[in-house]
Amino acid sequence: SRPVVAVTRRVFPEGLAVFEGRAEVRTNDADVALDADGLAKHAAGAQVLLTTADTPVTDALLAQLPDLKLIANIAVGYNNIDVAAATRRGILVTNTPDVLTEATADMAWALLMAAGRRVSESEQWLRDGKWTAWAFDLWLGADYHGTRLGIIGMGRIGRAIARRAHGFGMEVVYHNRRPLPIGEHGATWVTREELLRTCDHVVLVVPYSAESHHLIGAPELASMKPTAVLVNIGRGGVVDDAALAAALASGKLAAAGLDVFEGEPKVHPDLLAQPRAVLTPHIGSATPRTRRAMLGLAVDNVIDWLDGKAPRCTVNADALPVETSTPQRG
Ligand code: GLV
Ligand code: GLV
Repeated sequence: SRPVVAVTRRVFPEGLAVFEGRAEVRTNDADVALDADGLAKHAAGAQVLLTTADTPVTDALLAQLPDLKLIANIAVGYNNIDVAAATRRGILVTNTPDVLTEATADMAWALLMAAGRRVSESEQWLRDGKWTAWAFDLWLGADYHGTRLGIIGMGRIGRAIARRAHGFGMEVVYHNRRPLPIGEHGATWVTREELLRTCDHVVLVVPYSAESHHLIGAPELASMKPTAVLVNIGRGGVVDDAALAAALASGKLAAAGLDVFEGEPKVHPDLLAQPRAVLTPHIGSATPRTRRAMLGLAVDNVIDWLDGKAPRCTVNADALPVETSTPQRG
């Protein structure tokens, strides 16, 4: 019988047509976010789980899916998956790098400028009918041209954000554990402390892990310029959202643009009530072209596996079958 591919959420159906004749596709047409029991039922007997970043894949779930061989995440980040548990069980995990880099960098800029130039706040004021007279000092916001941008997490997306910054005439510095080779990103490595203390604006593009949990908390926020704008386009939990809301409320930070949140889709009530925060519902890669490309790459990873090859975007190569054959003579 054909391998079963269980898809956790509704995706573009035409993106799954390639499985015709190769695999049985089990879709979630109602598109409800399944809980652990629901997922275990939906994926029972499946060899492949095609997941979105909102779907937690825990060791407890994997224990109920003994036939599973591959988890193809339709996202570049994969902290929704217990990769160590998957590896231990010999289950491959793949992601979708590169294809979402430019759209996500665009969204970081949308948040950075919307927050600093007070787009959401002033628009709400206008819609509320409060614009009765123009004023010279109406809704003054942040400068970008000629300012210093700091990027924490200089991967592909960080470098794409840096490229855009040069068009705005900004000086760009970044922090990574290790400095990158000098390149077209045209950015200078600095320590995290220096970056936070000296930058006019800070963008976070850090994956979530135990080490990056609350990387930006109250002490880090306090070290930033009170005129600074902070953007989180990476993952929730990298910022202490309660501390961020408090910093905005007390004027220790000018504004924030957030696409990801601790415990999303729940958002900290103090952030919801904070007009200086521009909040979007994890839509960094949400364009039709980019979502098609992400689905296409996730599906290509499944096809690689169906073809008996190592999937092209495997993130846990340790789970690949060990090459046991030794070259034979004769
Ligand atoms: C989305 O957040 C992704 O990681 O692709
Ligand atoms: C993260 O993986 C990135 O592409 O920046």
